Amino acid sequence: MDPAVCEQRVTPAFIRGRKGAQRITFVTAYDFPTAKLADEAGFDMVLVGDTLAEVVLGYETTLPVTFETMLHHTAAARRGIRRALLVADLPYGTYQASEKDAVRFAVRFVKEGGAQAVKLEGGQNRAKLIRRMMDAEIPMMGHIGLTPQSVHRMGGYKVQGRREADIERLLQDAVALDKVGVFAMVLEGVPREVAKAVSEEVSIPTLGIGAGPDCDGQVMVLNDLLGLTFKRPAKFVRQYLQGATDMRTALAKFKADIDSGAYPTDAESYHLPDDLRLKLPDILKRVKGPGNN
Ligand code: KIV
Repeated sequence: MDPAVCEQRVTPAFIRGRKGAQRITFVTAYDFPTAKLADEAGFDMVLVGDTLAEVVLGYETTLPVTFETMLHHTAAARRGIRRALLVADLPYGTYQASEKDAVRFAVRFVKEGGAQAVKLEGGQNRAKLIRRMMDAEIPMMGHIGLTPQSVHRMGGYKVQGRREADIERLLQDAVALDKVGVFAMVLEGVPREVAKAVSEEVSIPTLGIGAGPDCDGQVMVLNDLLGLTFKRPAKFVRQYLQGATDMRTALAKFKADIDSGAYPTDAESYHLPDDLRLKLPDILKRVKGPGNN
């Protein structure tokens, strides 16, 4: 990556300014090494997403992950990032019940986790809450379309915006988010044509995932693109690594080397200096001397 680019920290204003100028690159990360690698690769933004629940913690949905766990991983990701904008994802249950508590959680992401922006799911129904968070000086990102925290209401992970009324609602949600002042919004699991219409309608960047190529940027779950998952990937996932396959092969090789005695070799061992090595039998004798058997 160009070192000059590396010096400039990405800000929400920078992301907003990219609309219509240059595509925005956005990827999830969940800890120090993955955030560091994403940052070094030059991604504009890194999201500690609540997909942590599924791809790292092994839950079936994103619903069970707690705020404390998300905070722990956000702080780890923070330590790996120099340039990218770090966005933290409010998990299910932190903003649905009380606006006051929701603002407190969002503030903790910034204060304790080092997040520079916070994301939550929803459109018109979250506009007032987003306004309160922005009043607390927190840059906010929206997320509409297939919102995984609504999995039970949606009856599964289904592409959204396929019926006339749903398209209308989606456009209204997007306009509401734009109006309230989020600096960008994720558009997940919607038909390409709808994502294009939304992207043309709003003044802020749209970040697509399963929403086609006409969004202002793309976001992807890291484990999906690295092939480090155990389910059949969704249609929109392009795998750039066979992570699980390569890790299986590496682990099997290491185990076989231990089993056969091929690991470790003498070259992979530490050694005593010659003088101490020659004294070793005497040291042993001393230790095993009378009464020390
Ligand atoms: O939690 C997450 O990883 C997300 C992305 C799918 C955008 O919200």
